[in-house]
Amino acid sequence: MFKPKILIFTLFIAAVAAMGATADYQQAAPPAPKNLKVLPKNISHEELDHVMDGWKTALGVKCNFCHAASDDNPKKLNFASDAKPEKEMARKMYLMANKINKKYFHTKKGENGMTAMAAINCNTCHHGEAHPEISEEKMMK
Ligand code: HEC
Ligand code: HEC
Repeated sequence: MFKPKILIFTLFIAAVAAMGATADYQQAAPPAPKNLKVLPKNISHEELDHVMDGWKTALGVKCNFCHAASDDNPKKLNFASDAKPEKEMARKMYLMANKINKKYFHTKKGENGMTAMAAINCNTCHHGEAHPEISEEKMMK
Protein backbone atom coordinates (compact mmCIF):
# COMPACT_ATOMS: atom_id res chain seq x y z
CA MET A 1 0.00 0.00 0.00
CA PHE A 2 1.30 3.53 -0.89
CA LYS A 3 1.98 5.68 2.19
CA PRO A 4 2.37 9.39 1.25
CA LYS A 5 3.34 10.38 4.80
CA ILE A 6 6.32 8.03 4.79
CA LEU A 7 7.37 9.28 1.35
CA ILE A 8 7.24 12.92 2.45
CA PHE A 9 9.14 12.11 5.62
CA THR A 10 11.84 10.29 3.63
CA LEU A 11 12.22 13.22 1.22
CA PHE A 12 12.49 15.60 4.14
CA ILE A 13 15.30 13.54 5.72
CA ALA A 14 17.12 13.34 2.38
CA ALA A 15 16.93 17.13 1.95
CA VAL A 16 18.29 17.75 5.46
CA ALA A 17 21.14 15.28 4.83
CA ALA A 18 22.01 17.00 1.55
CA MET A 19 22.12 20.42 3.27
CA GLY A 20 24.36 19.00 5.97
CA ALA A 21 26.75 17.59 3.37
CA THR A 22 27.03 20.97 1.61
CA ALA A 23 27.81 22.72 4.90
CA ASP A 24 30.56 20.17 5.67
CA TYR A 25 32.06 20.67 2.27
CA GLN A 26 32.20 24.44 2.71
CA GLN A 27 33.88 24.08 6.09
CA ALA A 28 36.51 21.79 4.58
CA ALA A 29 37.70 24.47 2.09
CA PRO A 30 41.22 25.61 3.10
CA PRO A 31 41.45 29.09 4.65
CA ALA A 32 42.85 31.95 2.52
CA PRO A 33 46.59 32.53 3.10
CA LYS A 34 47.30 35.15 5.77
CA ASN A 35 51.04 35.73 5.56
CA LEU A 36 52.26 35.95 1.97
CA LYS A 37 55.22 38.31 1.54
CA VAL A 38 56.72 37.20 -1.76
CA LEU A 39 54.07 35.16 -3.58
CA PRO A 40 51.10 37.01 -5.16
CA LYS A 41 48.50 37.75 -2.45
CA ASN A 42 45.65 36.68 -4.75
CA ILE A 43 47.26 33.30 -5.58
CA SER A 44 44.69 30.50 -5.97
CA HIS A 45 44.74 27.45 -3.69
CA GLU A 46 45.70 25.27 -6.66
CA GLU A 47 48.64 27.49 -7.58
CA LEU A 48 49.84 27.75 -3.98
CA ASP A 49 49.67 23.94 -3.66
CA HIS A 50 51.58 23.61 -6.89
CA VAL A 51 54.35 26.00 -5.75
CA MET A 52 54.65 24.33 -2.32
CA ASP A 53 54.80 20.83 -3.84
CA GLY A 54 57.49 22.07 -6.23
CA TRP A 55 59.63 23.47 -3.39
CA LYS A 56 59.15 20.31 -1.35
CA THR A 57 60.30 18.11 -4.22
CA ALA A 58 63.17 20.42 -5.28
CA LEU A 59 64.62 20.31 -1.76
CA GLY A 60 63.72 16.68 -1.04
CA VAL A 61 61.97 17.63 2.22
CA LYS A 62 58.51 17.59 3.78
CA CYS A 63 56.29 20.59 4.48
CA ASN A 64 57.58 20.72 8.07
CA PHE A 65 61.09 21.58 6.87
CA CYS A 66 59.88 25.17 6.46
CA HIS A 67 56.60 25.18 8.38
CA ALA A 68 56.46 25.13 12.20
CA ALA A 69 53.99 23.04 14.19
CA SER A 70 50.86 24.65 15.65
CA ASP A 71 51.07 25.72 19.30
CA ASP A 72 47.74 24.08 20.15
CA ASN A 73 48.21 20.87 18.12
CA PRO A 74 51.79 19.64 17.54
CA LYS A 75 50.50 17.19 14.92
CA LYS A 76 49.33 20.05 12.70
CA LEU A 77 51.39 22.67 10.91
CA ASN A 78 50.81 26.39 11.32
CA PHE A 79 51.45 27.40 7.72
CA ALA A 80 51.14 31.15 8.41
CA SER A 81 53.79 31.09 11.18
CA ASP A 82 57.29 32.43 10.42
CA ALA A 83 58.88 30.60 13.38
CA LYS A 84 61.24 28.48 11.23
CA PRO A 85 64.26 30.25 9.66
CA GLU A 86 64.06 27.87 6.67
CA LYS A 87 60.81 29.59 5.65
CA GLU A 88 62.49 32.99 5.53
CA MET A 89 65.42 31.47 3.65
CA ALA A 90 62.97 30.05 1.09
CA ARG A 91 61.51 33.56 0.59
CA LYS A 92 65.01 34.93 -0.08
CA MET A 93 65.72 32.06 -2.47
CA TYR A 94 62.49 32.74 -4.33
CA LEU A 95 63.40 36.42 -4.74
CA MET A 96 66.94 35.47 -5.80
CA ALA A 97 65.66 33.03 -8.44
CA ASN A 98 63.22 35.67 -9.76
CA LYS A 99 66.00 38.23 -9.97
CA ILE A 100 68.32 35.88 -11.85
CA ASN A 101 65.52 34.99 -14.27
CA LYS A 102 64.62 38.62 -14.88
CA LYS A 103 68.09 40.11 -15.06
CA TYR A 104 69.99 37.44 -16.96
CA PHE A 105 67.30 35.51 -18.83
CA HIS A 106 64.86 38.42 -19.39
CA THR A 107 61.85 36.35 -18.37
CA LYS A 108 58.52 38.15 -18.06
CA LYS A 109 55.88 37.89 -15.36
CA GLY A 110 52.78 35.85 -16.17
CA GLU A 111 49.20 37.00 -15.50
CA ASN A 112 49.37 35.51 -12.03
CA GLY A 113 52.29 37.80 -11.07
CA MET A 114 54.79 34.92 -10.96
CA THR A 115 57.61 34.39 -13.44
CA ALA A 116 56.30 32.71 -16.57
CA MET A 117 58.55 30.03 -18.07
CA ALA A 118 61.40 30.43 -15.58
CA ALA A 119 64.87 29.74 -16.98
CA ILE A 120 66.08 28.65 -13.54
CA ASN A 121 64.11 27.40 -10.56
CA CYS A 122 64.80 25.83 -7.16
CA ASN A 123 65.54 22.50 -8.75
CA THR A 124 68.29 23.93 -10.98
CA CYS A 125 70.52 24.16 -7.90
CA HIS A 126 68.87 21.92 -5.32
CA HIS A 127 68.21 18.74 -7.32
CA GLY A 128 66.24 17.23 -4.46
CA GLU A 129 68.67 18.32 -1.71
CA ALA A 130 68.16 20.92 1.01
CA HIS A 131 71.87 21.80 1.10
CA PRO A 132 73.30 21.89 -2.39
CA GLU A 133 76.95 21.71 -1.47
CA ILE A 134 79.81 22.42 -3.82
CA SER A 135 81.32 19.08 -4.68
CA GLU A 136 85.14 19.13 -4.50
CA GLU A 137 85.24 16.07 -6.69
CA LYS A 138 83.36 17.76 -9.51
CA MET A 139 85.44 20.95 -9.16
CA MET A 140 88.69 19.05 -9.64
CA LYS A 141 87.63 17.57 -12.97
C1 HEC B 1 61.29 25.30 1.22
C2 HEC B 1 60.35 25.81 2.21
C3 HEC B 1 58.90 25.42 2.11
C4 HEC B 1 58.36 24.16 1.97
C5 HEC B 1 59.09 22.84 1.84
C6 HEC B 1 56.92 24.33 2.01
N1 HEC B 1 56.60 25.64 2.17
FE1 HEC B 1 54.72 26.41 2.33
N2 HEC B 1 55.51 28.30 2.42
C7 HEC B 1 56.86 28.61 2.37
C8 HEC B 1 57.02 30.05 2.35
C9 HEC B 1 58.32 30.82 2.28
C10 HEC B 1 55.71 30.59 2.42
C11 HEC B 1 55.35 32.08 2.43
C12 HEC B 1 55.40 32.65 1.01
C13 HEC B 1 55.28 34.17 1.00
O1 HEC B 1 55.72 34.82 1.95
O2 HEC B 1 54.75 34.71 0.00
C14 HEC B 1 54.79 29.47 2.47
C15 HEC B 1 53.40 29.58 2.59
C16 HEC B 1 52.52 28.52 2.68
C17 HEC B 1 51.10 28.63 2.90
C18 HEC B 1 50.32 29.94 3.13
C19 HEC B 1 50.26 30.22 4.63
C20 HEC B 1 49.65 31.57 4.98
O3 HEC B 1 48.58 31.59 5.63
O4 HEC B 1 50.23 32.60 4.61
C21 HEC B 1 50.58 27.37 2.91
C22 HEC B 1 49.12 26.96 3.11
C23 HEC B 1 51.69 26.47 2.69
N3 HEC B 1 52.86 27.20 2.57
C24 HEC B 1 51.56 25.10 2.62
C25 HEC B 1 52.63 24.23 2.39
C26 HEC B 1 52.46 22.80 2.23
C27 HEC B 1 51.13 22.06 2.29
C28 HEC B 1 53.71 22.29 2.03
C29 HEC B 1 54.10 20.84 1.75
C30 HEC B 1 53.50 20.28 0.54
C31 HEC B 1 54.65 23.41 2.06
N4 HEC B 1 53.94 24.56 2.29
C32 HEC B 1 56.01 23.29 1.91
C33 HEC B 1 57.89 27.71 2.36
C34 HEC B 1 57.78 26.35 2.22
C1 HEC C 1 71.37 29.52 -7.71
C2 HEC C 1 71.23 28.29 -6.94
C3 HEC C 1 69.99 28.18 -6.03
C4 HEC C 1 68.68 28.36 -6.38
C5 HEC C 1 68.09 28.74 -7.73
C6 HEC C 1 67.91 28.08 -5.18
N1 HEC C 1 68.73 27.77 -4.14
FE1 HEC C 1 68.18 27.38 -2.23
N2 HEC C 1 70.13 27.20 -1.68
C7 HEC C 1 71.20 27.27 -2.55
C8 HEC C 1 72.42 27.00 -1.82
C9 HEC C 1 73.83 26.97 -2.40
C10 HEC C 1 72.03 26.76 -0.46
C11 HEC C 1 72.91 26.36 0.71
C12 HEC C 1 73.34 27.53 1.49
C13 HEC C 1 74.03 27.01 2.73
O1 HEC C 1 74.09 25.79 2.93
O2 HEC C 1 74.50 27.84 3.47
C14 HEC C 1 70.59 26.91 -0.42
C15 HEC C 1 69.82 26.80 0.73
C16 HEC C 1 68.44 26.84 0.78
C17 HEC C 1 67.65 26.71 1.97
C18 HEC C 1 68.19 26.57 3.38
C19 HEC C 1 68.38 25.13 3.71
C20 HEC C 1 68.69 24.94 5.16
O3 HEC C 1 68.92 23.80 5.56
O4 HEC C 1 68.69 25.90 5.92
C21 HEC C 1 66.35 26.78 1.61
C22 HEC C 1 65.13 26.70 2.52
C23 HEC C 1 66.31 26.96 0.17
N3 HEC C 1 67.60 27.00 -0.30
C24 HEC C 1 65.18 27.06 -0.57
C25 HEC C 1 65.15 27.33 -1.94
C26 HEC C 1 63.94 27.52 -2.70
C27 HEC C 1 62.52 27.38 -2.15
C28 HEC C 1 64.32 27.84 -3.97
C29 HEC C 1 63.43 28.19 -5.17
C30 HEC C 1 62.49 29.28 -4.94
C31 HEC C 1 65.77 27.84 -4.00
N4 HEC C 1 66.24 27.53 -2.75
C32 HEC C 1 66.53 28.15 -5.12
C33 HEC C 1 71.16 27.54 -3.90
C34 HEC C 1 70.03 27.81 -4.63
